[in-house]
Amino acid sequence: MPTKPTVYTFTTKNGSPVRVRPLEPEDAPYLVDLFENMGEDSRYQRFLQALGKPEMERVWSEAEHIAGDALIHGRGLLAFCDRTERPDVPVAAARFVELAPAQAEISISVRDDMQGTGIGTKLLGLLIDEAKIRGITQLVGLVQSDNMAMWHMLKKQGYRMTRQPDGTYTFMTLHLDQPEAQMDAAAEFSPESYLTWYK
Ligand SMILES: CC(C)(COP(=O)(O)OP(=O)(O)OC[C@H]1O[C@@H](n2cnc3c(N)ncnc32)[C@H](O)[C@@H]1OP(=O)(O)O)[C@@H](O)C(=O)NCCC(=O)NCCS
Repeated sequence: MPTKPTVYTFTTKNGSPVRVRPLEPEDAPYLVDLFENMGEDSRYQRFLQALGKPEMERVWSEAEHIAGDALIHGRGLLAFCDRTERPDVPVAAARFVELAPAQAEISISVRDDMQGTGIGTKLLGLLIDEAKIRGITQLVGLVQSDNMAMWHMLKKQGYRMTRQPDGTYTFMTLHLDQPEAQMDAAAEFSPESYLTWYK
């Protein structure tokens, strides 16, 4: 597949360069690659259902649906790294889908062996910038209540967040028109506060 222009770049916590470009309709193969490099827990956290060993036909059809929809109902970003096995490996994807004027639902995935290196935080920040450019003021999502990496990452973005817990899931709204001081947001997230914070 020909390489498309990079729109953003950043480096991971361990110094690997990451290139980011918009998700486009022909990007389903990259989404399938990413899915194949996510374990059961990550897949569950992303899709909120136990997928077991899904038929590849189903995986492809979902990837084609997500990629095909990317430019119609919202915006998506794909992140790539050069790895020893090959260049241009998709390492993360994030997108928002517009639900109502000024409101969109977000989702994000980072391949398992690159989680914890700062990619999710940076990519989410870029997606938020894209959302704001398009007049989105509320980003919403259903997140597993114990998905600490996601909660931590959301909180670090520095916007007011409201939460409605419902069983093992929590419906969250990130208010992009209500920035919080970054310092306060980080301070609220001491490890001891995790267990009480999302209640
Ligand atoms: C959630 C997800 C996107 C985060 O991406 P990532 O690249 O691993 O995140 P980052 O490395 O940028 O940051 C994760 C932060 O969470 C923190 N964190 C991770 N696990 C944690 C835990 N169990 N408790 C507390 N903090 C935790 C990390 O320390 C890091 O914070 P820091 O940079 O301040 O140290 C990634 O884990 C993922 O793809 N998960 C599966 C899919 C998913 O859950 N999607 C979200 C719902 S759509």
